[in-house]
Amino acid sequence: MFRNRRIEKLLKILIIFVFAFFVILICMLRQQSDTENDNTIERIPRQNESEVETALSTASKSLKKLIKCKNKIQKAENISSGKFFIFKNYKIASKHFDCYDSITYVTHSDFTFLNNVVPLLQKWNGPLSLAIYAPGSDFTAALEGIFYLQNCHKRSYLVKKFTTFHLFFDESLLNVSQINHMPMKCSESKKYLEISQRQTFRTKNKLSYPINTARNLARSASITHFVLVSDIELYPNPQFINEFLEMIFNNENLINHKNVFVLPVFEIVQNQELPNTKYELQQLYLDNKIHWFHKQICLSCHLIPFHELWLIHTKQQMQIHSSVKRQAPFSNWEPIFVGTNADPWYDERLSWEGKSDKMTQAYIMCVLDYNFNVLSNGFLIHKPGIKTVAESARPELEDLNHKIIKEIILPEIRFLYGENENCEMYT
Ligand SMILES: *[C@@H]1O[C@H](CO)[C@@H](O)[C@H](O)[C@H]1NC(C)=O
Ligand SMILES: *[C@@H]1O[C@H](CO)[C@@H](O)[C@H](O)[C@H]1NC(C)=O
Ligand SMILES: *[C@@H]1O[C@H](CO)[C@@H](O)[C@H](O)[C@H]1NC(C)=O
Repeated sequence: MFRNRRIEKLLKILIIFVFAFFVILICMLRQQSDTENDNTIERIPRQNESEVETALSTASKSLKKLIKCKNKIQKAENISSGKFFIFKNYKIASKHFDCYDSITYVTHSDFTFLNNVVPLLQKWNGPLSLAIYAPGSDFTAALEGIFYLQNCHKRSYLVKKFTTFHLFFDESLLNVSQINHMPMKCSESKKYLEISQRQTFRTKNKLSYPINTARNLARSASITHFVLVSDIELYPNPQFINEFLEMIFNNENLINHKNVFVLPVFEIVQNQELPNTKYELQQLYLDNKIHWFHKQICLSCHLIPFHELWLIHTKQQMQIHSSVKRQAPFSNWEPIFVGTNADPWYDERLSWEGKSDKMTQAYIMCVLDYNFNVLSNGFLIHKPGIKTVAESARPELEDLNHKIIKEIILPEIRFLYGENENCEMYT
């Protein structure tokens, strides 16, 4: 009796030890795979991470068969384009995605907009490809800003995990000592994120913002099949990636390169928390705290088809709410959409200051007969604060963009893509 008890006790202890040993072993293996993830660029075999990210897993595994895309390896490249020096994949996100696994948020900025990166990632939780225009001493500032986001911010892990940074500037402004600048201290680098646009090298030297070069750079560097080319101050609703991929999974026939998927854009009053769901958005709209984007500047540039019906639509599942061609009455429409790298590129001759910078792409998509499918449950909200007309008026450069579009780009497009009498180039 006594012996048996002792053996029983010993056995129990032994079992606990063996169990503890395995727990520690598993933890160690986990940690090792995490650090590998952070340091290597190349494809790492997926360590059951799909089991953790449950919502996505089922859809994405089967999406592999539906979306016949090729995985891409990210590697740093220094490119001289003739006009610009480009540091493509200057800092690469630590988390690798398969091309069918997610959507890349593709965007651009100068260093003064870097404050948007963390709030954006908190909503997006997926890959971000960001091209930063950094001429002259703005390059130093951009390096400091990136350093701060990657190493000092309390949510640095989000930045490191998801963000791939690209930098570019005019070749005529090359200054080697600025390129080799090495940020060292969080307290120093924080200051750069507080500099206003008026104090940048770009503003002081009256350089126009090469928005379309930035868009093309960031889009071409994305490693997923689907891309959302957007502006860095537009925050998506959380869960968008999963809900979108699930919709695609359930409707294979949506996978067609002539389909793009539009997210309606709203603006929200100052000091208001952003809605996370369509239901919350509807409530805020009723309270007059949310408006259609650019209500005061160019409503028709953003207003979606059947917008009133969209607002009262309340199905839980992501659907196509409406589908239109970019013809009248939508010839003036500048929608933001999920597309792919097969879509037409942005014309790099157009500056941001001159506006209409996406119009030529939209026009080509009209000629090519694209379908613009408006999503029922996806949306973008501009960072709080309503834009007014005065902030966005840049008349001389608007005239220049219009002239370039009319006299140079439009004849080219007609030559390259043919004509479609239903398409209008609104400028
Ligand atoms: C991953 O999960 C599968 C099934 O759940 C299991 O068979 C496999 O051993 C796991 N792999 C690792 C590395 O833990
Ligand atoms: C690109 O240039 C920078 C600055 O000279 C250098 O530090 C970096 O190693 C270069 N990267 C590649 C891929 O050549
Ligand atoms: C190059 O950059 C350094 C550091 O910002 C600056 O001190 C120097 O004046 C610059 N040189 C030129 C030619 O602009």
